[in-house]
Amino acid sequence: MSGELAVVTGASAGMGVEFARQLAAQGYNLLLVARRLDRLEHVCEEISAAHPVKCEPMAADLTRDADLAALEQKLRAATNLGMLVNNAGFGTLGKFHKQPIEREDQMHRLHVLATMHLCHAALPGMMERDRGGIINVSSIAAFVTSAGSVSYCSTKAWMNRFTEGLYMELKLAGSHVKVEALCPGYTHTEFHATLKMDTSGIAKWMWLPADRVVRESLEGLRQGRLIVIPGLRYRAMRRAYSLLPARLKLAIGTTAPRYRRRQNGA
Ligand SMILES: NC(=O)c1ccc[n+]([C@@H]2O[C@H](COP(=O)([O-])OP(=O)(O)OC[C@H]3O[C@@H](n4cnc5c(N)ncnc54)[C@H](OP(=O)(O)O)[C@@H]3O)[C@@H](O)[C@H]2O)c1
Repeated sequence: MSGELAVVTGASAGMGVEFARQLAAQGYNLLLVARRLDRLEHVCEEISAAHPVKCEPMAADLTRDADLAALEQKLRAATNLGMLVNNAGFGTLGKFHKQPIEREDQMHRLHVLATMHLCHAALPGMMERDRGGIINVSSIAAFVTSAGSVSYCSTKAWMNRFTEGLYMELKLAGSHVKVEALCPGYTHTEFHATLKMDTSGIAKWMWLPADRVVRESLEGLRQGRLIVIPGLRYRAMRRAYSLLPARLKLAIGTTAPRYRRRQNGA
């Protein structure tokens, strides 16, 4: 990995910072992307002090066409791109029709369009060199549909399906480039505070530390796994849920808002 470039979006907080730390420890040079430049600079300082790698911060709002295009251009121009982590994301709480349309639009731009554009920019070079990896940070929410999180579940399900398609095309081409959809459950980051979500009702055992989630993700990519669900409990829950009849899944998804209303007043 030494000398190769890893690009991590959403690297100013949470899992993105952890990806940056663990990829630097593997010898990758870093391009870290998010809106808050001061945070990115701080992460780069920490990483440069701990590892002999280059770390470049890039301020970009990936819901904006111009910022996304600037990052795409960097990816297309990089002759040593070894890793892309599409990690930037956010959640919303509350009924779809009551959300501001701008917020819904931003979520689709960030989770769907930015992921699609950046994969499209990264893949040709990786395939030509026949090496590299892409991790699309999805969610355990990709496997469920839940009232109160309509766009979040839908966009994360899209990320899984999209990554699955890329996986098939890479296999068909006999490529050594790897792709993964990372599907974490509740993880300790700034995600829920940003969402102003009261997490006091969520059982302690459901939480995973970000460093463990990222370690399992990078190990999963090394092993060539398409879908990575960190934590045995979440893997068991996902398996059990997949066995439920469709009408029971609908009923479960429909009861979710009451739980959220209690938590958030949403
Ligand atoms: N935490 C969980 O429980 C959990 C569970 C499943 C999946 N996930 C997924 O994990 C990923 C990382 O989230 P996290 O938990 O680490 O949350 P976090 O701590 O809130 O970090 C989110 C990151 O995304 C960046 N970001 C948000 N909007 C952006 C935009 N428009 N342009 C560029 N960057 C943007 C933020 O940076 P700026 O604000 O500086 O732009 C921040 O660096 C997300 O895709 C999330 O959906 C999280």
